[in-house]
Amino acid sequence: MFIHITGTGSCLPEKVVTNDELSMRLDTTDEWIFSHTGIHSRHIAAPDECTSDLAVCAAKKALEDSGVTPDQLGMIIVASSSSDYLGFPTVSCLVQEALGAKQAGVLDVQAACTGFIYAMQVARGLMQFDPRPTLVIGAETMSRVVDWSDRNTCILFGDGAGAAVLEGKETPGGIRDAILKGDGTGSGMIFRAGGVRAVPAEQGKLPFLRMNGRAVFNFAVKIFDEVLSALVQRSKLVLNDLAQIIPHQANARIVEATARRMKVPLSSFFMNMETTGNTSAASIPIALDVLNKTGKLKAGDLLATVGFGAGLTYGGLLMQWTKPLLQHA
Ligand SMILES: CC(C)(COP(=O)(O)OP(=O)(O)OC[C@H]1O[C@@H](n2cnc3c(N)ncnc32)[C@H](O)[C@@H]1OP(=O)(O)O)[C@@H](O)C(=O)NCCC(=O)NCCS
Repeated sequence: MFIHITGTGSCLPEKVVTNDELSMRLDTTDEWIFSHTGIHSRHIAAPDECTSDLAVCAAKKALEDSGVTPDQLGMIIVASSSSDYLGFPTVSCLVQEALGAKQAGVLDVQAACTGFIYAMQVARGLMQFDPRPTLVIGAETMSRVVDWSDRNTCILFGDGAGAAVLEGKETPGGIRDAILKGDGTGSGMIFRAGGVRAVPAEQGKLPFLRMNGRAVFNFAVKIFDEVLSALVQRSKLVLNDLAQIIPHQANARIVEATARRMKVPLSSFFMNMETTGNTSAASIPIALDVLNKTGKLKAGDLLATVGFGAGLTYGGLLMQWTKPLLQHA
């Protein structure tokens, strides 16, 4: 059985916050932010909107795109590092209730910005035992996790959700390979407390995200190369065989440095962080949905995703786009 993506969906909050608006309350400028990140604006959730709401909105669109109904789902997997609740219930439980997906199991995956890649591989594995359609979602309300007085971090992030419906079919193609990796030696590079371990420096403060941006930047460029090279080599391909590379939408300068290092044209990489910012686990499925809905993916196209995040976690997927073939089969 081959695991195919048969539908995608995404959802961004209505409210847009531009760099110019940020510069009215922070010591920063549109020029600095755009030149260092490629980001001009990001979407920010309304006060009564959060991760599961965005997840449900993206999920409904992905289900509609695939033709799968909620009662056909065998599993709902949500990747998020900004869950509705610090404890429980999980986001996937809230999504299951909202969709009325009565037959589905529910699971949350926490791998920070690499979460969607991890969730896809978990889904692919579980579907070997239960081949019913699976809904995989990356959803975040990063605006509730960042410290809006810290110009080093708050300018980077945005809110949103993306979803994909996976179905098992006999037709070859779909998800062909996955690389999941971790490097706990970098656990201090991106950090957010709020669990049961007391962190003296953070006591009494809200558990905001903290980051060593320069160290993360260098790590990202190195692992983009490592993961993309391994994905193509393992399948006896070359980078030019990839119709699209969908990187985690963290920073356009990371992508540009990767393209230079790997001697790949920048046009091979899809980027939309200019208007979304870094939506963490949602960034790759949102980008995939934009490509799908704007007709940029052709039957048989080889796609690679690559991502990194707190943990440190990193990884990638190699996929063959088959949605048009399956629809017309
Ligand atoms: C965060 C990031 C944009 C910072 O860019 P950078 O070129 O590395 O900048 P530095 O951190 O070296 O800071 C350079 C200067 O700019 C300043 N600066 C930082 N943020 C600023 C902002 N928003 N506006 C203006 N100046 C800023 C710093 O204070 C520093 O000033 P100093 O030299 O007086 O100390 C960049 O490192 C980055 O994107 N890293 C990866 C982060 C990431 O992707 N995280 C998500 C992980 S999933």
